Amino acid sequence: MGTLAGREILECRLTNGSGTEAGILTLGATLRRLLVADARGDRDDIVLGFDTAEEYLRGRHYFGATLGRYANRIAGGSFSLAGRRHQLTQNDGPNCEHGGIEGFDRRLWTVDSIRHAHGAAVCLSLVSPDGDQGFPGELRTQVTYTLTDDDALRIDYRATASAATVVNLAHHSYWNLAGAAAGDALHAQLSIDADSYTPVDTLLIPTGELRPVAGSVFDFRSPQFIDSRIRDASEPQLRVGRGYDHNFVLRGAAGLLRRAARLEDPRSGRVLEVLTTAPGLQLYTGNFLDGSVIGKGRRLYRQGDGVALEAQHFPDSPNQPGFPSTVLEPGALWTSSTVFVFSARSTPP
Ligand code: BGC
Repeated sequence: MGTLAGREILECRLTNGSGTEAGILTLGATLRRLLVADARGDRDDIVLGFDTAEEYLRGRHYFGATLGRYANRIAGGSFSLAGRRHQLTQNDGPNCEHGGIEGFDRRLWTVDSIRHAHGAAVCLSLVSPDGDQGFPGELRTQVTYTLTDDDALRIDYRATASAATVVNLAHHSYWNLAGAAAGDALHAQLSIDADSYTPVDTLLIPTGELRPVAGSVFDFRSPQFIDSRIRDASEPQLRVGRGYDHNFVLRGAAGLLRRAARLEDPRSGRVLEVLTTAPGLQLYTGNFLDGSVIGKGRRLYRQGDGVALEAQHFPDSPNQPGFPSTVLEPGALWTSSTVFVFSARSTPP
């Protein structure tokens, strides 16, 4: 699949007994394709992305990528830890976004192992040197994708550091359960297991408030079509985000695997359930896809063509004392797991 700095980019293929198939690139530990059956049993690729590895390096929409060291934004590209200020690379105005200029999505990961017990699994690792993008400490990261026989794609993250640092590893697929080439992904019913969310300022940095979702367009406690409220001009936060681009505060204790969201597409009957140990879930409706990106099968991607459900720590946590901590101390193990469970409603609508 091409090369990066003279090293070959590989795609690892995982399959299971029901014919579900995942393709994972060593570039960015990226989920490039995921073939899942619909209610009629027809398989289709349901994640946005590119046909070639080179295209992932050209633009930066993070299709299917593993985000690191720090998913989402760190305000002003800087934070303090143990009395020291750390300046990061800035790639979103003044902010550091998704790990900075050379985030983990642009690195070549090493295949540590491919296993076939309890499903097919590939384990990828990356060593990020001390000072990488301005982050302190060497960070050793491992990401394992497991495709189980009951149609779940599980992602397990582990990281250790040589010095205190901040970590937020997350997965950034844009889902379109009707098929990656189907166009609009927003006419799908979404539930999110969250009673509050973190409103943002004009630079998409959380203000620090945890605002109840009740009575607002952010209330996904019962299933709602995403497109039913996304044009509601009475909600200033939708304007700031150009749609949904917000972190939800998940119910239940972080660290325990629990349900975070459920997405159901009425056209195909496909259902996706997201479980995670992470404290938050970023709902991003592809607001920055402007019709200029040529995706798989030479389809132009437009706003709303994919929905990202990013299980992660809250954005800008290193600068927000009220948010769950993202600090990793040397000698400690950072872990996080997210599971995407696929099914289809037996009767096509
Ligand atoms: C962020 C968006 C950003 C997108 C692509 C999402 O995780 O929340 O603001 O535009 O990633 O970079």
